[in-house]
Amino acid sequence: LQGEVPMAGSKNAALPILAATICAPGRYTLHNLPDLLDVHVFLQVLEALGATVSPLANGTATVDTSGIRCADPQPPKDLVSKMRASVLVMGPLLGRCGRAEVTMPGGCSLGARPINYHLAGFEAMGAQLVPHNGTIMVDAARGLHGADIDLPFASVGATENLLMAAVLAQGETVIRNAAREPEVTDLGEFLVAMGAHIDGLGERDIRIHGGAPLHPVEYTVIPDRIEAGSYLCALANTGGSGRITRCRPEHFTELLRVLEEAGCRLTVGDTWVELQAPPTLGAVGLCTGPYPAFATDHQPLWMSCLTTAHAPLGFEIILETLFESRFNQVAPLKELGADIEVLSQVACVRPVSTLRPGTIAATDIRGGMGLVVAALRIPGTTRITQLHHLQRGYSQLTEKLEALGATARYCSNCDSPAPIAAVAG
Ligand code: EPU
Repeated sequence: LQGEVPMAGSKNAALPILAATICAPGRYTLHNLPDLLDVHVFLQVLEALGATVSPLANGTATVDTSGIRCADPQPPKDLVSKMRASVLVMGPLLGRCGRAEVTMPGGCSLGARPINYHLAGFEAMGAQLVPHNGTIMVDAARGLHGADIDLPFASVGATENLLMAAVLAQGETVIRNAAREPEVTDLGEFLVAMGAHIDGLGERDIRIHGGAPLHPVEYTVIPDRIEAGSYLCALANTGGSGRITRCRPEHFTELLRVLEEAGCRLTVGDTWVELQAPPTLGAVGLCTGPYPAFATDHQPLWMSCLTTAHAPLGFEIILETLFESRFNQVAPLKELGADIEVLSQVACVRPVSTLRPGTIAATDIRGGMGLVVAALRIPGTTRITQLHHLQRGYSQLTEKLEALGATARYCSNCDSPAPIAAVAG
């Protein structure tokens, strides 16, 4: 691959920021929203709760949350089951309406994904949990109060949900062992722009002085570091050279380190990265972890690069520590000829000289993109089905791949020969 592609706004920052518009009634203008399925579903969630939403155009949408119906603070089940991030409306609804009701969220299947830390945090702030017809009802009719919350794990979603509840609670909340991901910090900056008083964003402990009056704002979402890593891995895996623009390289330094160790030449600017890859990458093992460690969302992308890398020991190890089941991509990669063994949260990749084309199914957003990264190196046409996973997380995927010189098409019947990869639905 060769060429230049711009990165979209961050999905995982956009979703909590959309949720946070519930915190104070009024009209918000949001820029750099990525045009992808999850954002559209989240806008529908807000509409179903009573907000007025303008269509997303060139990355900008307006959301007016004046009409949020507090009498029925429950997003529709069918939307919640599509996307895990819909659970993020709980904190803002609880703070604004004194009540929230949500069914167990859906989303990518990465093993057990409980929300016990979110719920325990709400309870510490004075809410009561009431089981109700298979849904989770959280009640804080007498209002939320500040609390000292020590998260057992630096959960991204729990930190975000509790941050949004805490700005609406009376008094001071401390979230200890908070997630430090850039998306959490972006949500915090958005709340600060709305008038919230928050100290320690990006640090282990976040201190929120709740109860400050909040107002709607205009805001620009940060670029998507996971998309950036996806295209860098695509360039790296094809021995390519190119530039990704409109990104924040300081948000994915661990991936850059791994790419460099694997033999890529990198030039890093403030908002762009240029990469020149060797014909065959060196194999680099890694362990995922909470930010700033290697992102779990980048893991399937790098695994694809490993499948045909040069490994002096004959193998390399990936240790996944975030999710109990985040090797969904292994089975389809093996169908393409990869040699990978998984034992619990450890994957042992024995690189082979080349993978072969085939028809495989995407299993989740990042695993699906990992398959695209693998397919791009395979001579011939590889078909990837279950594309809704990719559409949830990647905007203009085929356009961007084609801008880099790949042949990538969404089609119901991809029979025409393609030089590098076809993405079929
Ligand atoms: N966990 C609990 N209890 C909780 C919350 C989390 O046990 O109450 C556990 C989870 O089961 C998991 C670990 O903690 O094992 C980490 O989960 P976390 O809450 O940090 O993840 P998340 O908020 O569910 C977000 C992203 C994911 C990304 C992870 C980790 C969004 C919408 N999703 O999920 O992104 O992988 O953080 O960085 O922000 C994706 O974009 O494809 C994606 C899956």
